Amino acid sequence: MTVPTVATVAQTAAAIAPPLLAWYDRQHRRLPWRSPPGTPPPEPYRVWLSEIMLQQTTVPAVMPYFAKFLARWPTVHDLAAAPVEDVMEAWAGLGYYARARNLHKCAQAVSTRLDGRFPDTVEGLLELPGIGAYTAAAIAAIAFDRPAAVLDGNVERVLARLFAVETPLPQAKPELRRLAGLTTPQQRPGDFAQGMMDLGATVCTPRRPDCLLCPLQESCAARRQGIAESLPRKTEKKPRPVRHAVAFLLQRPDGAVLLRRRPPEGLLGGMLEVPSTPWRDLPWSDGEGKAHAPAAAIDWRPAAGAAEHVFTHFALKITALHGCIGAAEAAEIDGLWQPPGKAALPTVMKKMLGLLPADTAPAGKPAVRSTRNPRRGRARP
Ligand code: ADE
Repeated sequence: MTVPTVATVAQTAAAIAPPLLAWYDRQHRRLPWRSPPGTPPPEPYRVWLSEIMLQQTTVPAVMPYFAKFLARWPTVHDLAAAPVEDVMEAWAGLGYYARARNLHKCAQAVSTRLDGRFPDTVEGLLELPGIGAYTAAAIAAIAFDRPAAVLDGNVERVLARLFAVETPLPQAKPELRRLAGLTTPQQRPGDFAQGMMDLGATVCTPRRPDCLLCPLQESCAARRQGIAESLPRKTEKKPRPVRHAVAFLLQRPDGAVLLRRRPPEGLLGGMLEVPSTPWRDLPWSDGEGKAHAPAAAIDWRPAAGAAEHVFTHFALKITALHGCIGAAEAAEIDGLWQPPGKAALPTVMKKMLGLLPADTAPAGKPAVRSTRNPRRGRARP
């Protein structure tokens, strides 16, 4: 491994902020939660909302949710006053649902304890629900122009290349954090952080970085050594375990399907779900699966096709059984009956409903497009 010396780090650090900021002035991405470079920072509420949404989620996936939340809850007081179920429902499809619950808790803390004002320091921000080291630094830098070192996946890649850090991730994180601290300037740290993110997202990309367009090419040790594309190195991950579920698609004569609310804690906490067998390591036989059905005496028929959803720690393979039930019998069953195309559901549940037989399927195709965030390398639930 090549460890950058103190002298090279200091030289490079001093050499990167001016060209990076000049590049950001010209090439910044225009995003709804940002202020143009050189203008006063955006409202902390917007910065906070966008940073929570952008954790583990891509910019294109966040855009419509950001617009929807701001239109519905224009201030932190509005969001704090909303019922948590409404917030969870508006979040449906964005994944990592603990974020929505914490978003609401955080809005309540800021609204009631802090009179609607977000703390303007990393330490103060860290005390709020759902705000960790990365998010605190991002809000402090972007909303309050504090020289906090912001290190997301894009910035890690830029720094690993600039300083030719060959230690693989995640072991390289402490070193990259140190380099982020050393390179963050006192002037315009918010624009610097966003410039590093944009450089990583548009030029210093994981594959085929466009070094000829890079404002930092002169300072880049990996480019000099011809190893930019191979950095950052990554320790090989264990393959994701696979789990299996059978979903029960129970329909009333009016087409509504049976849904249930999941317990508030844990995976997809508080969200609506399609009833299913436990999610286990072994595939289910039809007979075995039926023992977990939400209603007895239903003529369950195998639904055509199968679906798969990738969570952070496992992949779920889904098959489904379809059944019909009369309106009177349906009224006896615990749960909610909703038209399949209308329910605000997590993506995995939309995929289950996507297995409804064609003549009963929801009008809108289920959302199956990946919103995997390359900065964090995980799929959303
Ligand atoms: N990812 C996380 N924070 C971001 C931001 N402020 N702009 C663009 N992408 C981001």
